Amino acid sequence: MQEKIIILDFGSQTTQLIARRVRELDTYCEIVPYNKFPKDDESVIGVILSGSPFSVYDETAFKTDMTEIWGKYPILGICYGAQFMSYMNGGKVEPAGTREYGRAHLDTFCKDNVLFKGVREKSQVWMSHGDTITAIPANFKTIASTDKVAIAAYQVEGAQIWGVQFHPEVFHTEDGTQILKNFVVDVCGCKQDWSPASFVESTVAELKKQIGDDKVVLGLSGGVDSSVAAVLLHRAIGTNLTCIFVDHGMLRKNEYSNVLHDYECLGLNVIGVDASAQFFGELAGVSDPEGKRKIIGKGFIDVFDVEAHKIKEVKWLAQGTIYPDCIESLSITGTVIKSHHNVGGLPEKMNLKLCEPLRLLFKDEVRKVGRQLGMPEHLITRHPFPGPGLAVRILGDITPEKVHILQEADDIFIQGLRDWGLYDKVWQAGVILLPVQSVGVMGDERTYERAVALRAVTSTDAMTADWAHLPYEFLGKVSNDIINKVKGVNRVTYDISSKPPATIEWE
Ligand code: XMP
Repeated sequence: MQEKIIILDFGSQTTQLIARRVRELDTYCEIVPYNKFPKDDESVIGVILSGSPFSVYDETAFKTDMTEIWGKYPILGICYGAQFMSYMNGGKVEPAGTREYGRAHLDTFCKDNVLFKGVREKSQVWMSHGDTITAIPANFKTIASTDKVAIAAYQVEGAQIWGVQFHPEVFHTEDGTQILKNFVVDVCGCKQDWSPASFVESTVAELKKQIGDDKVVLGLSGGVDSSVAAVLLHRAIGTNLTCIFVDHGMLRKNEYSNVLHDYECLGLNVIGVDASAQFFGELAGVSDPEGKRKIIGKGFIDVFDVEAHKIKEVKWLAQGTIYPDCIESLSITGTVIKSHHNVGGLPEKMNLKLCEPLRLLFKDEVRKVGRQLGMPEHLITRHPFPGPGLAVRILGDITPEKVHILQEADDIFIQGLRDWGLYDKVWQAGVILLPVQSVGVMGDERTYERAVALRAVTSTDAMTADWAHLPYEFLGKVSNDIINKVKGVNRVTYDISSKPPATIEWE
């Protein structure tokens, strides 16, 4: 049985970060809503309580019944999690005189407490709280203080229960990983045996059991998630998996044939469907970004549905959904939001059972699993690409001619990034075809042609992003090549907006 740590989510922005840090310790963990502790799950060996946007004394604050947990598992409460445990046991939590955000230092701490094993003197910790614990219950013991926070950490005497006011999961807490390791490994006794190899082995066994001799269909997009999901399933059920790769006409230059070839080399049973004419027809004259997205989303489902029905007796639909897509996140109002699947609408329409073998992995873990499965590096390190493809990079209406211009310009930019060794240094890159024409001069001729924008960003999760500081020489060369080689473009600009306030895509 795969042992696990449970993270109770009280709505903090850093809950996912806690999970990432625990996974980095080769330890499996799951995030569950604060009131959904899996009490019958025998594989749980420790519990972490996250932070929260609430104050414990708010009437609407998230509170949970701890009777199934308290004294039964080792517990680590972080920020609100620490305040909550103290408050529920009779401690006092009050608004801090000044809200505490940012750096602090552990001025004093119990060096012999197992939680602080290996923590350095005056270690920097990251605070982010409006409330502070001003008094702890009699059976709690303060084990760390900073200059502003007297009770920066506590332990319940005689129990394996700790609370920390600071955030060990954030990068700026210097010994945060050490503190989490002390809890996860030394206290909970995790074996640290969660690895890509063990994931592949156990998932393939589970898939075999779950699916048996049933037939499965999966939509490939060319992206890393659906590709890894396909290879993993193929390993489990072989040719009972049929993959469908739809060309909606908005892919990059030669992408359809290249990716189809890659999939065939991987031994996948894949059906390629060139539906570009149908999509061009439906998109004609549509300029509204959401309108374009809807047409492509619905068109994809229709094409996929028709193809899938040609396969006899399909029972399952597989998807490359990953963990951040499906974590139930909590909004400030307390409503539980189930976030999107990556092919919205398909499961409902097709009435198939859903199989999502990557649903518990983060993106970097998906890449590691892909390598473990022996997939080629260029498939694994591929930049993210939006489902509606170039349709959201052509501002205004879409025509085959505009797609062609954009494909050519985009190909020069992406190939240039590869040639200059810059491709893997950026999170995502592409070209946007702008709905403006400008005056230029080529030879003795006045031109009046299109402008394009180059976009390249650095990021870790696409939630925030910075424009990539690409070398001027490189940008100059790409600009020259595009203007000289792509008929219809006479001006190249570079987008230097960060997200927020801009977004990565222009539409
Ligand atoms: P934004 O533009 O919101 O993009 O900063 C964040 C990330 O999401 C991708 N993206 C999409 N992916 N369907 C997708 O599958 C879409 O409609 C879509 N819109 C944006 C974008 O490429 C970036 O990686």
